[in-house]
Amino acid sequence: MSWDTIRLDRDGGVTTLTVDRPDRLNALNVETLDAMEEALDEAADERTRVLVLAGAGDDAFIAGADIGHMTDLTVPEAQAYAELGHRIARTLETFPAPTIAAIDGYAFGGGCELALACDFRIASEDALLGQTEVDLGIAPGWGGTQRLPRLVDDETARRLILLGERIDGREAAEVGFVGEAVPDGEVHDWVAELADALASQPRHAVVAAKEAINQVYEAPLSAGLAHERRMWSGLFGTHDQREGMTAFLEDREPEFE
Ligand code: COA
Repeated sequence: MSWDTIRLDRDGGVTTLTVDRPDRLNALNVETLDAMEEALDEAADERTRVLVLAGAGDDAFIAGADIGHMTDLTVPEAQAYAELGHRIARTLETFPAPTIAAIDGYAFGGGCELALACDFRIASEDALLGQTEVDLGIAPGWGGTQRLPRLVDDETARRLILLGERIDGREAAEVGFVGEAVPDGEVHDWVAELADALASQPRHAVVAAKEAINQVYEAPLSAGLAHERRMWSGLFGTHDQREGMTAFLEDREPEFE
């Protein structure tokens, strides 16, 4: 499949979904979101061990939802747009491989919200991040009000969302919005290093552990613990479980599937 405003590139087990509208700072219009949905579906196969979400060009990761598109939306149209954004965020959150947001440049509004749905966020120190919707007379609508307070402390989330504050990558790392802030120009190298490390891990164990971690935000502790017991025992009998343990006993490197 080919799309006009996104790219899907595969390099070994690392699949990169790039939003490719640099003239609009990779803002997300409906065409782009529809293409992302198709691309994520295509990417969710056995070959993908890690998914990277990135923006094309030097200026932006994703400068948010497309304001030109949103200006005249009716309430039902806005609802459909919110649902589309939510579906993509949820697909990233539950994607059957680890996901990394490579945040180089602007990440505003919906761009931040898609990054929040990824497992890892690596930003350049000079990136600029913000849930800036309040400046447009709206509020985050693709999960930002729910995912950001789960990631940073409550008051920081309120400050960012209610004031629409923009923070650079350094401060984003300090408050826990991103995992890592790296020197300008080095984001893609850092992302590649993390992606390679994740891609060489045993696939089923990684996906099962991701699903279990997600339960922290979905379920009460007793249900999360029950999920973990089922997940853990379900890994026994897999090639990677036998190989990992046998390799340890034989004092050699494991060869995972
Ligand atoms: N939706 C639609 N178009 C957008 C956009 C968005 N979210 N963000 C940027 N663009 C467009 C601009 O309209 C401009 O188009 P033009 O060349 O036809 O005028 C182009 O992208 C370049 O942006 P510009 O504003 O000229 O670049 P800048 O470097 O001066 O400023 C930003 C960059 C990111 C600070 C500024 O574009 C901005 O504030 N964008 C909106 C961010 C936002 O509020 N996002 C949340 C949406 S919910």
